[in-house]
Amino acid sequence: MQHDKVLIVDFGSQYTQLIARRVRELNIYSEIHPFNKIPTNVDDYKAVILSGSPMSVRSENAFHPDLTAIRGKKPLLGVCYGAQYLAHFSGGEVAESNTREYGRANLNFIQENEPFLEGVSEGSQVWMSHSDTIKSLPTNGKLLASTHDVKNAAYKIEGESTYAIQFHPEVYHSKDGKQILENFLVRIASVNPDWTPNAFVSETVDELKSKLGNDKVVLGLSGGVDSSVAAMLLHKAIGENLYCIFVNNGLLRKNEFTSVLEQYEGMGLNVKGVDASARFLDALAGLSDPEEKRKAIGRVFIEVFDDEAHQIQDVTWLAQGTIYPDVIESVSATGGPSATIKSHHNVGGLPDFMKLKIVEPLKALFKDEVRRVGASMEMDKQLLGRHPFPGPGLAIRILGDITAEKVRILQEVDAVFIDGLRSWNLYDKVWQAGAILLPVNSVGVMGDERTYEKVVALRAVESTDGMTADWVDLPYKFLQKVSNDIINKVKGVNRVVYDISSKPPATIEWE
Ligand code: XMP
Repeated sequence: MQHDKVLIVDFGSQYTQLIARRVRELNIYSEIHPFNKIPTNVDDYKAVILSGSPMSVRSENAFHPDLTAIRGKKPLLGVCYGAQYLAHFSGGEVAESNTREYGRANLNFIQENEPFLEGVSEGSQVWMSHSDTIKSLPTNGKLLASTHDVKNAAYKIEGESTYAIQFHPEVYHSKDGKQILENFLVRIASVNPDWTPNAFVSETVDELKSKLGNDKVVLGLSGGVDSSVAAMLLHKAIGENLYCIFVNNGLLRKNEFTSVLEQYEGMGLNVKGVDASARFLDALAGLSDPEEKRKAIGRVFIEVFDDEAHQIQDVTWLAQGTIYPDVIESVSATGGPSATIKSHHNVGGLPDFMKLKIVEPLKALFKDEVRRVGASMEMDKQLLGRHPFPGPGLAIRILGDITAEKVRILQEVDAVFIDGLRSWNLYDKVWQAGAILLPVNSVGVMGDERTYEKVVALRAVESTDGMTADWVDLPYKFLQKVSNDIINKVKGVNRVVYDISSKPPATIEWE
């Protein structure tokens, strides 16, 4: 790594990943590490940021790591809990707040000529979320800014590059948050902002070249953004030694297998399309339970992939499109494991291809960064902007058992909906969209005939990471048109409904 790095110490705040993303938006590479596993090589980092936390500094089991190796030795910024802990650790006092401050607040006293707050205007809106307050500043502390309810909203420790803010600079509602982060990192800590998508591509390609040499690598393409960008990076590094496999499980969108395969071939990838639809449909026959379906699909995918990987002679590596949120070690505020709502990850035995060495070129990137890296390699905009699509595909959007006829109906319905979103310029405003085939028939009338046919639900959500989501307020005119088109064009459907549930308490998929 030839770039300056920033260490983000995570105390379990829901916003920690946002801090990392904001820092990276400044073209500065940042890494998240849990408070109880702070790397021993702090000298490798140019600056350190302490995150917020759901904890109280005053509680018995609060997170109190030793900061001796960091404070006063490295430029250090404490955010929310980070600011409180810094005060607590350095001779200040934290107490329960009389007025809890959640949400909007304004900075109403700002220290002049202070590089940390350069460009931040009087009254600047900041976002608060805390119930404790810093009652007295640490030894050598100097007040830098206040809000109406919080006197010590920003402070520094004199003689050191140590700063602290009670508010969250990482959320968009903090108007000058990014400016403050930039002041701290670039002006105060002298971090070089040179971590750009182009630099990432050229360095990653060089690293992959020296790591892989003349070795062969196999990679499963899914049609999604991550696997496609990972393939492109590897293709640039090792060309024909990258063997891509794109499996048709028969549960993709209409025409997707052929169109995506053509697109991959157009990108110059060495890709083999494997049509295993029949094998998947056989395995799904008679299954209606969502988890059973997922398991069957996972099992068959592994079998098919294993068969294909065996046909590549002397392959030694398996490439995966793993991204940063999959590998960040998270701090659990409760200490307990979270309940499994859906088994998103395929389960099964350990087939031969899984014994290969693993290469994960996107392991350091967030999803939006993967897209930017793809764009800097001039990959197709439509491919990079594609909505997420679940691995088990339409199988979990056909409630109940799956037949070839039901798949056909849903593919048609889905195509009308998605094409409609595109032609009404709504596709890019929606995070994910699709249709669900319900296991009920309803009575209708077409011409003079009574019909008794399927009901479909349409779902369109906005989200940033799929963890929470809200339904999209699509124009009535659009819904009216799509509903008419579906009922007129798709044989077997006589009713369309629109899903207006948020997640939580619902989930994005119905199964
Ligand atoms: P839920 O339904 O849990 O979905 O709100 C959140 C996101 O995950 C996707 N999803 C899956 N992805 N295998 C996948 O690869 C699965 O079994 C699976 N189930 C849900 C869903 O499409 C949404 O983007």
